[in-house]
Parts: sequence; structure tokens; C-alpha cells
Amino acid sequence: MATRHVARAATRTATRPAFAAAPRQAFRQQGRRWYSSEPAPKSSSAWLYLAGAAAAGGLGYWYYTASDAPSAASTKVINPTKEDYQKVYNDIASRLDKDDYDDGNFGPVLLRLAWHASGTFDLATGTGGSNGATMRFAPESDHGANAGLIAARDFLEPVKAKFPWITYSDLWILGGVCAIQEMQGPIIPYRPGRSDRDVTGCTPDGRLPDAAQGSDHLRNIFYRMGFNDQEIVALSGAHALGRCHKDRSGFEGPWTFSPTILTNDYYRLLVEEKWQWKKWKGPKQYEDKTSKTLMMLPTDMVLVQDKEFKSWTEKYAKDNEAFFNDFCAAVTKLFELGVPFAQGSETQRWTLKPTWDESK
Ligand code: HEM
Repeated sequence: MATRHVARAATRTATRPAFAAAPRQAFRQQGRRWYSSEPAPKSSSAWLYLAGAAAAGGLGYWYYTASDAPSAASTKVINPTKEDYQKVYNDIASRLDKDDYDDGNFGPVLLRLAWHASGTFDLATGTGGSNGATMRFAPESDHGANAGLIAARDFLEPVKAKFPWITYSDLWILGGVCAIQEMQGPIIPYRPGRSDRDVTGCTPDGRLPDAAQGSDHLRNIFYRMGFNDQEIVALSGAHALGRCHKDRSGFEGPWTFSPTILTNDYYRLLVEEKWQWKKWKGPKQYEDKTSKTLMMLPTDMVLVQDKEFKSWTEKYAKDNEAFFNDFCAAVTKLFELGVPFAQGSETQRWTLKPTWDESK
């Protein structure tokens, strides 16, 4: 597992041994299971483009036509296999490392894209969610909560160009799965079958959480999607990754010392560190008293201020395996909100293989 990414991550965590993550990774890989897959048939997708998609049996049948002569005669129907999706996964993974971007990796912003695509879901009306990829269009792309996600959408464009058969909706979620796994998080079972929608599928502004608010707001937003308190806390652990940007949300800084490796450090820091309001001209946020280099949003701090939330935060701070298990379950649910998968296809989720695990 000595890859470039892990080596880099280890260097980054070296400043703070108490929360350093790399040594724990080897242990975490034990017990993971992979499915071997057969080589996919050679495809000449460079000259093909996507003309339509239709779900069948939980997976999809995709229709291709020759781009220069679209006609019924040139139409070919293929059924992408797990191996085809693994190729897309591998392509995303191979592009993640970028020295001049943030902490050297696009993983965090890809995960945020997948979450914001999914987190618009409204259980009562069945609207929103990851089916549609409607954030490609204004007004959704201009919603304040989505500021900066153009970086993730643009990042995935060359992947879409290389694999035109995949829908944007499936690609964005695959990007999230890939980000979590490549940043050494748990395996997130993946199920394709989303179709893209046009601008009429855009959701109204205000469905995603506002970081300046408190526990009532958090509950309103996440209960609307169908989550409970435990799942709210488990999902929030994603803030072990990435950072806030002044020119996106207005907030600034990372939550942990290892923003490109998924660990339970977010909870440990919430519980073990002392936090104070940051004195600055920006929006109200917390900083850690010790180094003053880490941050917490008001909605993060709620997880130790609210009694119900706090019990879960303490549990995950002590038990990384419990965090990984609950995070995996909650993220799998999040990524499938509002997707009309065929009945029975829950058993057809795939585990795609992380590229850094050379032992598999
Ligand atoms: C609980 C409510 C949540 C609030 C209020 C919230 C708010 C925010 C804010 C303000 C940012 C900074 C954006 C920027 O300036 O670039 C951010 C970043 C991020 N969020 Fe959340 N978030 C929440 C939940 C989640 C969930 C459920 C996930 C994933 C499962 C997630 C994943 C991320 C990631 C990975 C980043 C870092 C992005 C980057 O580095 O570019 N967040 N979030």
C-alpha cells in the first residue's frame, strides 16, 4: 500500500502525531473483501456518444449511435459491466492527485459534489436526490450552498468524455465513492442506474444545510431526507476531509490535520480539543485553542453541544470501526436517495476496488 498518495498523506499528518492517521490504515484494510471481475470487452467508445439511457433490472442498457451518422442501423445496445465501472473508477482515481490544488487531492471536493447532488432529496415529495445531476444547470448551480462545486464538475468532464456511456448522475456518485475509498475510507457499495434530467428537475434553493445554524435546522434538513440523529452524526464525519474556502462558503480552513485521509479524527478533535470563536472579519466559526489552524463550523459544534448528537460523537471518537460501518451505511443510503432503482436490485450493489491496495 506504499503509494504516492499514502506517502504524501503520511507527510501531511506528521505535524500532529496524536491525530496522525497513516499507521492505522494497514489495520483497517484487514477483513475487506473484493470481487474479482472479468476483463471487459474492448470498446471503441471514442467515436461513440450517448444517445439515451434506460434502466433495466437495476443495471442499465445504454444505447449508442455513431456520432457522424446517427441512424437506427448504427444503434448498438450494450450493458456496462462491473468491470466497465471499475475502469471509470480507476480513471477518476488516477486524476485525483494534483499538487497545486488545495491539499494535493481532488477527493474532498468530489465527495462534496456527490453529497450536494444527493442532499436535495425530499422524502415527502420524492423530489431531488442524486438522480438527474441537475446541478449542471442554473439556478441549482448558482445556489449559495453549491459555491465552488464547479471545480468538481469540471474535474469530471474529461472522465465523462472518455466514458460517454455513463450518466452524469452515476458519474458524480461514482466520484464520491472513489473519493472516499481512495482517501482510505470504507468500501462504499455502488449501484448504477441513475438517469440525467434537464433543467426542470432543479430543486428549489434552501434544501442543503446552512452551516451558521443550530441543531433544529440540522434535524429539519436531514429528517426531511429521511435520516435520524445517529446518521446525521455519522455523515458529518466526512468533515475529516477537505477544507472550507473563503471564496466559496466564506468559512476558512480544514477540520483535521489529515484532510486527504478519512479517519475519525473529526470526532476526536471535537471531543478532545478546546474550541473558541475565531476572531476575524469572516462568518462565525470556531478555531482550536492549541494550534489555531483547525476549524469547526457552528453546525459541527452542535454535535458536542446537543445531548443526543454528543453520545454518537463520543462513540465515533472512541471507535473508528463503528464510524466506518455507520458512515458506509449512511453514505450508501444518501447516494441512493430518490433514485428509482428496480425492485430487488439492493442485492446488486458492487464493491469497486481501491487502486492503492496492492495486496488485492
Ligand atoms: C451537516 C451539515 C453540513 C454542513 C452545514 C456542511 C457545510 C460545509 C461547508 C460550509 C463546507 C465548506 C465549503 C467550501 O468553502 O469549500 C463544507 C465542505 C465539505 N463538506 Fe460539508 N456540510 C455538511 C455535511 C456534509 C456531509 C453530509 C458531507 C458528506 C457526506 C460533507 C462533505 C464535505 C466535504 C468533503 C467538504 C470539503 C470540500 C472541499 O475540501 O472542497 N459535508 N461543508
